[in-house]
Amino acid sequence: MILAPSILSADFGRLADELQRVERGGAGLVHVDVMDGHFVPNLTLGPPVVKALRRATRLPLDVHLMIEHADRWLDAFIDAGADWVSLHVEAVTHLQRAVAHLKARGVRAGVALNPATPLSALEEILPELDYVLIMSVNPGFGGQSFIPGALDKVRRLAGMLRARALGARIEVDGGVDPGNVRALLDAGAEILVAGSAVFGQGDAEAGARALLAAAA
Ligand code: DX5
Ligand code: ZN
Repeated sequence: MILAPSILSADFGRLADELQRVERGGAGLVHVDVMDGHFVPNLTLGPPVVKALRRATRLPLDVHLMIEHADRWLDAFIDAGADWVSLHVEAVTHLQRAVAHLKARGVRAGVALNPATPLSALEEILPELDYVLIMSVNPGFGGQSFIPGALDKVRRLAGMLRARALGARIEVDGGVDPGNVRALLDAGAEILVAGSAVFGQGDAEAGARALLAAAA
């Protein structure tokens, strides 16, 4: 299991400290939620914050773009220090071009699916992906409840990948907590994003450790 704490639930006044805490807690990636107030009903951060995060941690930055016209912003986020970049299939018209661009720039390319978007939307692009981000909440906010149907979606995606002998990894985002970690890993997820479960209790190091312990 790779734990990817989502800084959306961190203390934005002390981001560098929060990153140190999750590093000590065993995080493998830092999940960065970019929202534009159009694709999702919330606004968060842009490339200057990614650049500051890049200087504050050695962990790879996993940038989740919940924005319209994401293809116009890829270079800005990569130049700022993104290592993994995911795009929503619902928000990018020329998805293959955007994925090919990410790969040409040497970053890991991912595609994200909202809860109501079927796996069939991945059929053509799947061989080109480094990872698939299955949303287990409707994107926009931290602290929402896990949508139970996501578990079977992960299982079916793992089956599709096996049947086609493809190597994309499965990331799950939304409502991940110590109570569902084990089931998600058993279903085939490998990268688990967690915001409130890591940062919500006030001690991000302990929050990260509790999630990793739940995987054991
Ligand atoms: C939701 C974001 C998530 C969010 C997860 O739109 O994409 O990454 O931060 O937060 P929790 O873990 O609190 O559901
Ligand atoms: Zn996210």
